[in-house]
Amino acid sequence: MHLIIPWDRPDSARECFHRDGFVVMEAALTPDECRWARDRLAGLFTGRFPTGSYPDEWYWREGLSRPDATRHMSNAWKSDQLIASIVQAPWVGDWIAYLNGWPRTRLGQDTIWIKPPLARPSSLHQDNSFIDFLAPATMSTCWMTFDDTHADAATIEYVPGSHLWPTAPLPADFHDPGDHRARMRASAAAAGVADPAVVQLEVPAGTIVFHDGNVWHGAAGSQRTGAAWRHTLAAHLLPADARFTTAPGGYIYRRYQLPDDDGLHDAFFPAYPPPDPRPGRPSFSILTAHS
Ligand SMILES: [Fe+2]
Repeated sequence: MHLIIPWDRPDSARECFHRDGFVVMEAALTPDECRWARDRLAGLFTGRFPTGSYPDEWYWREGLSRPDATRHMSNAWKSDQLIASIVQAPWVGDWIAYLNGWPRTRLGQDTIWIKPPLARPSSLHQDNSFIDFLAPATMSTCWMTFDDTHADAATIEYVPGSHLWPTAPLPADFHDPGDHRARMRASAAAAGVADPAVVQLEVPAGTIVFHDGNVWHGAAGSQRTGAAWRHTLAAHLLPADARFTTAPGGYIYRRYQLPDDDGLHDAFFPAYPPPDPRPGRPSFSILTAHS
């Protein structure tokens, strides 16, 4: 069991975040809120989008895709105002700003991952590899699980301390790797780390984890055939002053770059309010109000 930090101990959270590259906070959603979130996430994959706008990425279609394939969506906040209210909640910006020492933050994107029983692994990776067209090329993530997680059921796994290694180039095998830890091990060897430890999180539904964009993480395959689903939602935040560079890449992000303008605009990458210097416990009252 990994150390779990209470919400009224931000100093301890920041210490873990800087030492390990991630910090596991105590569960902050009730069972009812988790049930609401699981249903809401699953419902989006039927193609009914409350705002009428499609998300930026949508992998998995009912009746077309393999039942054991991982469901994935990016920028569901554009499709569902209640998802927007979760990923854009001020506490998310408060915490990411506090942990990193950033003066302001903005939303880079959100991601939904639904891992069914027998899901295949997701390669370990560093999120920062995916934003090498921004300056600074750094993000931090707020990850929320709405199910209990299990080591043999595709839980998220982290390599503590790996946020201090150099950022590796973008992987080519994100969704269908042979050995999902191979690239991480190669990167460890290059960084002079002989036997990197991997921590598989086993945490209750409603748990929230913050991770550094440079920490290696991913998911093992699921060995379970029963009802061991993993519904997760993540908000990926950038420093508010991030800019586009002339480097290639940016499949989603560059759709929202204006001509002759290197700025990330609030309409597409919403800024969070000025952060509270002492972040507090998350609130999900919006969910129960709509359940
Ligand atoms: Fe990631």
